[in-house]
Amino acid sequence: MNIILLGPPGAGKGTQSAGLVERHGMRQLSTGDMLRAAVKAGTPVGLKAKEVMERGELVSDEIVSDLIDAELAAMAPETGAIFDGYPRTAAQADALDAILAKNGRALDHVIELEVDEDALVERITGRFSCAKCGALYHDTANPPETEGVCDACGSTEFKRRPDDNEETVRTRMQEYRAKTAPILPGYEARGIVSRIDGMAAIETVAGQIDAILRS
Ligand code: AP5
Ligand code: MG
Repeated sequence: MNIILLGPPGAGKGTQSAGLVERHGMRQLSTGDMLRAAVKAGTPVGLKAKEVMERGELVSDEIVSDLIDAELAAMAPETGAIFDGYPRTAAQADALDAILAKNGRALDHVIELEVDEDALVERITGRFSCAKCGALYHDTANPPETEGVCDACGSTEFKRRPDDNEETVRTRMQEYRAKTAPILPGYEARGIVSRIDGMAAIETVAGQIDAILRS
């Protein structure tokens, strides 16, 4: 099973990917996470991506498609892939088709998380994650069970993303509207698009994704 989770910043792609990994043993391929790791490690890709990401603009198609290509090639063929935040442009959608074909994989579902844009700023500015294991939280919607302690690994260190401020979020939303939303009709023509209300509770969204995967 290979699926794309599509939606604007803060729609819940990362949150739902983590659930799918846990429930179904799929693998999350998040270009955002890969780029943040490259920035942290100071690799050539990271050096190129850092300022672009801080502005909320899109990193070059070639960089992100190369990252996905390398990750997918290293994956066991029976492990399902969740594409989180990729593809984001028409050129990336074409590249993904080629990468999947090369690996003998097919795209089963494109799941769009529909969200109310006004709520996204609040979601994103309230987001934080465990500095050790990366588990995602939100100040009010999804705090750890014990304040200051990660549910997943017990760490007490947390961090916030440098691009999670209101101004950058607005640019990221614009990029989504202008460059990413236009790739949906191509997938619709293949009959593989499903839409989910991403404003529902995290567990409700997860249940709806599972229903799509069973269909
Ligand atoms: P990326 O890391 O992909 O960021 P994004 O698309 O802006 O999406 P987010 O990660 O912000 O949101 P999400 O949908 O994962 O939401 P989450 O689950 O965390 O990309 C970052 C940057 O990298 C880009 O701007 C670009 O520069 C670059 N980049 C990455 N990929 C690229 C590509 N392919 N091409 C070019 N450039 C690329 O949830 C958000 C918050 O809401 C959390 O706190 C969560 O707890 C909470 N929450 C989640 N679901 C719910 C719910 N149902 N109810 C209430 N709260 C919820
Ligand atoms: Mg994310």
